[in-house]
Amino acid sequence: MKRLAVFASGSGSNFEAIAEGCRSGAIEDAEVVLCVCDKTGAYVLERAKKFDVPTLVFNPKEFASKRDFERMIADRLDAERVDLVCLAGYMRIVGEELLARYGGRIINIHPALLPAFKGAHAIRDAFEYGVKVYGVTIHDVDSSLDGGRIISQVAVPYEGDDIEELESLIHKAEHKLYVETISRIIG
Ligand code: GAR
Repeated sequence: MKRLAVFASGSGSNFEAIAEGCRSGAIEDAEVVLCVCDKTGAYVLERAKKFDVPTLVFNPKEFASKRDFERMIADRLDAERVDLVCLAGYMRIVGEELLARYGGRIINIHPALLPAFKGAHAIRDAFEYGVKVYGVTIHDVDSSLDGGRIISQVAVPYEGDDIEELESLIHKAEHKLYVETISRIIG
């Protein structure tokens, strides 16, 4: 059994897709053993409860530095014997401490066709730019923002003018691509 940790800051729909993928067997021989969240009250914590996944919730402001909270996180990943870290809407740049200890075993999902539209508002930025083909990227995590080797991508064509409809299409594509990609990486 491969042991996954999922990091999230918000709603956690990708967390749920991964947890459900493990439960249904769409991701074979893997389980989500930890949900790491930097926001008290984030909806992902409700989803974690539903899937009986233990959570590590922390407030970055209560630590003197990023190195300090990442040391605490990495110690917990060690204790849980985590094989792969999946960032799923974790809205922080991963720092030196986590990269030193888990580099090469951290992947991220981004709601755009990288290297276009990096950052925290990719869907809105692409929509305002007026692109006709949107997409999703999964990549290795390094010290850059939304950088690192691309592992997989999928295009989402959309020419409508309803950003909510677009977001929902992109999220659907994310859930499918994340499950397929994790399955392939650990298989
Ligand atoms: C997802 O769309 C993910 O790609 C994005 O945050 C959303 C989280 O949704 N991540 C980034 O923008 C990273 N730069 P979720 O909490 O419902 O999974």
